[in-house]
Amino acid sequence: MKTTLSLGAMVSLALMAGASSLASAEAAAQGVDVAVASSDGIRSFNAEDVPTFDIAEDGTVDWPTFSGYRRYQSECHVCHGPDGMGSSYAPALKDSVMRIDYYTFLETIANGKQEVGAAKTLVMPAFGTNANVMCYVDDIWTYLRARGTGALDRGRPAKRADKSPEYAEVEKTCME
Ligand code: HEC
Repeated sequence: MKTTLSLGAMVSLALMAGASSLASAEAAAQGVDVAVASSDGIRSFNAEDVPTFDIAEDGTVDWPTFSGYRRYQSECHVCHGPDGMGSSYAPALKDSVMRIDYYTFLETIANGKQEVGAAKTLVMPAFGTNANVMCYVDDIWTYLRARGTGALDRGRPAKRADKSPEYAEVEKTCME
């Protein structure tokens, strides 16, 4: 299940697989490491210290990933469509996170992105000063990766873990 490829290999895999079809997302998924290697009491990380989801066998979703679901709903859904599935205006982020790395994801959300095409201008707003987004980017990331790998179905996760005191502490500091 756990396959770790070099970044270069992942990039060429993604390029070979093409843009954003479901098949390409599945192909790219094979090069994406979502296995839990460690935890800091707040969230889980893969072997490269990139945040990852932790979904128990009975379907219980870790608190940060559940939080990511809620934040996605309130901040991203309007443009990126339900459950990370994309819209006519903005790309399917459940597929994007299988293709772009964590650092590119953070950078895009903080600084925004704008593609000026002949037909229409697409604007991804910069959220760098929005605590409702920036305090939860890791949560949104793990939620979208859970969606992209198929570990999480559409809709509101039925079972979730409780918020840990450590998470609550960091959240409070971030939101101040
Ligand atoms: C006002 C509409 C809008 C909102 C709200 C919005 N986005 Fe976007 N986003 C876009 C558009 C449009 C693009 C495509 C921009 C481009 O291609 O240049 C985009 C692109 C992105 C990308 C790059 C995707 C890729 O495949 O390269 C990421 C990552 C992203 N958005 C994350 C988010 C997250 C996370 C949120 C919620 C916190 C969010 N966006 C909210 C419109 C939006």
